[in-house]
Amino acid sequence: MLGHFQLILLFQSFQVTFVIACIPTQQIERGNIEEVTSTTSISTSLSLEPLVTSSSTTSTSTSTSTTTFIITTFTTSTSTTTTTTKAPPSCPDNWTKFDRTPTSWCMRVALQPTMEDGTLAVCQALNSSAVVSGFENQNEISTMMASAVEQGADSNSNLFVGAKRTDDCTSSGLTATCTALNSFEWTDPSTTGTDGFQWSAGQPDNYMGTSECVMINAVTELMDDVKGDDTRQGVVCGMYVA
Ligand SMILES: *[C@@H]1O[C@H](CO)[C@@H](O)[C@H](O)[C@H]1NC(C)=O
Ligand SMILES: *[C@@H]1O[C@H](CO)[C@@H](O)[C@H](O)[C@H]1NC(C)=O
Repeated sequence: MLGHFQLILLFQSFQVTFVIACIPTQQIERGNIEEVTSTTSISTSLSLEPLVTSSSTTSTSTSTSTTTFIITTFTTSTSTTTTTTKAPPSCPDNWTKFDRTPTSWCMRVALQPTMEDGTLAVCQALNSSAVVSGFENQNEISTMMASAVEQGADSNSNLFVGAKRTDDCTSSGLTATCTALNSFEWTDPSTTGTDGFQWSAGQPDNYMGTSECVMINAVTELMDDVKGDDTRQGVVCGMYVA
């Protein structure tokens, strides 16, 4: 029995020495959080004396849980970094995507003869989400008219554009109040601004007071205000990116 007691004392003194030796090492190698963790578990192991076996087990599991904690921290920062890759939205085949604010817009020319009241159906035959489109800027005009010419449009090809004469200028030609920039407004839900109004010289003149619609020539890339119930050679269509 005396021999056994001495063995316990031996282990106790060994344990204390071991713990003291551990503190500086952990403090140097790891940050403040680990430092607090190991200090706490050291006092736990001291309170468990004189059970030699469980004390040394506690010491072992302390270092194991410290290691686990470090691995968890590392994994968290890795997964945060990998969430940044995402495929940008795109338009279906044969539609051209234009970056607009706040959302991109897909456009496509339909070369199918129609009057203005048939234009929406022509666009929706291409895609049920499509409407008759306006132009936001010269780049959209040039890109889409080049596409029309590529599909076979020529200088006799005029395409309906998504714009309507404003109520204030219904019976007015160009005046100080009804100008080239406010006589018409875009009808689609995306187009804004007036950079897309690129008129032929002297237009929109509201000829005979019946020019409620807008067409654009595929080759000159310039617009004219016209009657809606004359047949034109096609339509400019647009829709949001899905
Ligand atoms: C896109 O255009 C090409 C060339 O005109 C045509 O062959 C193809 O069928 C079109 N694709 C779609 C989805 O409309
Ligand atoms: C119509 O356009 C939407 C939105 O871009 C797209 O998701 C869908 O596949 C298109 N449908 C057809 C029949 O092309």
